[in-house]
Amino acid sequence: MWLAENWKDYEVIDCSAGEKLERWGDYVLVRPDPQVIWDTPKSAKGWRNRNAHYHRSNRGGGEWEFFDLPNQWSIRYRNLTFHLKPFRFKHTGLFPEQAVNWDWCGEKIRNADRRIQVLNLFAYTGGATLSAAAAGAYVTHVDASKGMVTWAKENAAASGLKDAPIRWIVDDCVKFVEREIRRGNHYDAIIMDPPSYGRGPKGEIWKMEESIHGFLQLCCKLLSDKPLFVLVNSYTTGLQPAVLAYLLGVELKRYGAKVTADEVGLPVLSSGLVLPCGACGRGVME
Ligand SMILES: C[S@@+](CC[C@H](N)C(=O)[O-])C[C@H]1O[C@@H](n2cnc3c(N)ncnc32)[C@H](O)[C@@H]1O
Repeated sequence: MWLAENWKDYEVIDCSAGEKLERWGDYVLVRPDPQVIWDTPKSAKGWRNRNAHYHRSNRGGGEWEFFDLPNQWSIRYRNLTFHLKPFRFKHTGLFPEQAVNWDWCGEKIRNADRRIQVLNLFAYTGGATLSAAAAGAYVTHVDASKGMVTWAKENAAASGLKDAPIRWIVDDCVKFVEREIRRGNHYDAIIMDPPSYGRGPKGEIWKMEESIHGFLQLCCKLLSDKPLFVLVNSYTTGLQPAVLAYLLGVELKRYGAKVTADEVGLPVLSSGLVLPCGACGRGVME
């Protein structure tokens, strides 16, 4: 499993009975996690002394219960700073397990030792964008939500990357990729972390399992003459590492890509076990 194990400001303290207990900097949160189907004793004191607790509702969705949490705070990962705030669907503004992909992309870009053009799709609050930019890449960051793009820009500024060569785009990812193909633009590296279900700014519907194959084929048309890598992350249950590996293997065959895929996970402090957090496939061409 690919483990995000280099955090200092974040940790999973414990997990039990459908919930995880996490430390985000100075604050402890309890959030639901459907993977946690075991029911071990909740002996860590954070379970009682939490700063906020997201309760899942039987009707879908849920709501935050606050004890002592600021409206916004920040945490650091290596040289990057991220603003956090509790908002809809249990989100905080960061998927900490993705740090393992940020490190991997950053290293690939640095080792390439040339100017790398990166396309980051479904880019959320910019974790992969910032790690790629910090490694020296030129990055195009695309997300359907204006609010998310604004948040990602704030993270860039907080990370000292305000003037880094990042193009911020609010658009539907499929529409944007189609437009880039028509414009004749190319990228050396493509990163994507699509949701299972999402919507573009004009209500365009994205369904991971139905859309991913055709979308990956489109994205391959954007690859440069000297591509570096394609990374696809998935939180969709049906898209296991082997499926991602096969998908990337087929579509990147003509580039002679070396494909690897695995689960992504977070270490759990109390038990030494690993919390699975989805799957990732990586195709490397250089
Ligand atoms: C939260 S991230 C993905 C993280 C994780 N994979 C998940 O399932 O929650 C998903 C991002 O994709 C964006 N998004 C959803 N549908 C989109 C679309 N059709 N085009 C562009 N961005 C989209 C959302 O605004 C969000 O920032």
